[in-house]
Amino acid sequence: MSSKGIDIAPANGKLGIVLPGMGAVSSTFIAGVEAIRKGIAKPIGSLTQMGTIRLGKRTENRVPAIKEFVPLAELNDLVLGGWDIFPDNMYEASLKAGVLEKSLIDQIKPGLESIRPWPAAFDRSYVKRLDGTHVKKAANKMELAEQVQEDMRNFREQKQLDRIVMVWCGSTEIFLKREAVHQTVESFEKGLVNNDPGIAPSMIYAYAAIKMGIPYANGAPNLSADIPALTHMAKERNVPICGKDFKTGQTLMKTILAPGLKARLIGLNGWFSTNILGNRDGEVLDDPESFKTKEESKLSVLEHILQPQHYPDLYSNYTHKVRINYYPPRGDNKEGWDNIDIFGWLGYPMQIKVDFLCRDSILAAPIVLDLALFLDLAYRCGMSGIQEWLSFYFKSPMCAPELYPEHDLFIQLMKLKNTLRYIQGEEMITHLGLEYYD
Ligand SMILES: NC(=O)c1ccc[n+]([C@@H]2O[C@H](COP(=O)([O-])OP(=O)(O)OC[C@H]3O[C@@H](n4cnc5c(N)ncnc54)[C@H](O)[C@@H]3O)[C@@H](O)[C@H]2O)c1
Repeated sequence: MSSKGIDIAPANGKLGIVLPGMGAVSSTFIAGVEAIRKGIAKPIGSLTQMGTIRLGKRTENRVPAIKEFVPLAELNDLVLGGWDIFPDNMYEASLKAGVLEKSLIDQIKPGLESIRPWPAAFDRSYVKRLDGTHVKKAANKMELAEQVQEDMRNFREQKQLDRIVMVWCGSTEIFLKREAVHQTVESFEKGLVNNDPGIAPSMIYAYAAIKMGIPYANGAPNLSADIPALTHMAKERNVPICGKDFKTGQTLMKTILAPGLKARLIGLNGWFSTNILGNRDGEVLDDPESFKTKEESKLSVLEHILQPQHYPDLYSNYTHKVRINYYPPRGDNKEGWDNIDIFGWLGYPMQIKVDFLCRDSILAAPIVLDLALFLDLAYRCGMSGIQEWLSFYFKSPMCAPELYPEHDLFIQLMKLKNTLRYIQGEEMITHLGLEYYD
């Protein structure tokens, strides 16, 4: 570290972003990048593209754009690729996903058609509702990991990339617990060779990336890189990683509302959350085993924000339920209802109802962009292992084993911006502000 911040390697050359899973989120992200590059649309929702950061005292009036403050890869330097079990190119995938209008997609058709997924490392036993033919064949999981690495090496060579990052945008896999095979790099590599059932496809991609020194983010709730073998390997190989499960829709609202209730010491009797959605993600989550992975991720949020151990009178006895219902007519345009039973002064009950008519992939796409650019920044800063400062983007943030995850959106944002200030040797902002009154 220099006297002023961290030495950051410049963002020279091209940055490849590789996406295992090229369905609704990935195609919306890729079409978005194309449209923004052409000046047809704006990168709404992206902190790296539209966010600003305050520096120094409020009286100094220094508020640069984040992308001017830290050296990020430019949108024009991004090259996109990925894998899927379906061979559709990104034009076809965007049309099928039904998120964006055909009139928009047609304006960027050649760019989208040129991106075709590579065959996937896939196994149906981990995503029961899907079946596809565009898949790799191999004697064991280690060979699959080698094929994934080969794809990335070819991509790097063909497109003359300077760096690559990987963001998992594949389906939610069945619920897996950490077990012996996940504990060390040795046991994990042995498991890859022996086809251990504890190793899901998302772990194969994560391993392949980390092995090649490629940063990895996990947009689904699958364990994936969140196992000791891979977090250790990431640290050892100087690779930044983060996850899990993009924070969009209902959980985003939850982590906006719950900190507010707690700030004003409003009690909670119950929080019932239900959703209807009709995209392929909804279909996959209709399988109880994939839903369990998602449910765990969605349920953990309130407990950590409300801290019942510190506020037993307010939060020790609430009911929290989350339901996801697959309802095809809605496609990607999910509707999420929350009924929140709260209580105030002298225990008097009140209710809040939230009806969020959201668009899942529209909320997720800018997260993919920000994660890719920030992970690349972290890599160029020499930051390795779990990047807790990127918790802002996740429902189930990865953190050191001795810590609890931070879920409060506003604390997460402060952590993210303070990390950028730290990187650039600027003062942390504490919001104390006493100096203005001395
Ligand atoms: N959209 C959101 O707001 C949001 C929020 C949080 C998390 N997520 C998660 O992001 C992921 C993507 O969501 P989506 O709406 O794009 O789903 P989607 O079903 O449209 O796309 C996922 C794609 O992954 C592919 N796939 C599955 N296993 C694969 C493998 N092993 N290798 C390569 N491809 C594989 C599928 O064929 C599918 O095309 C899901 O896990 C979802 O739960 C989405």
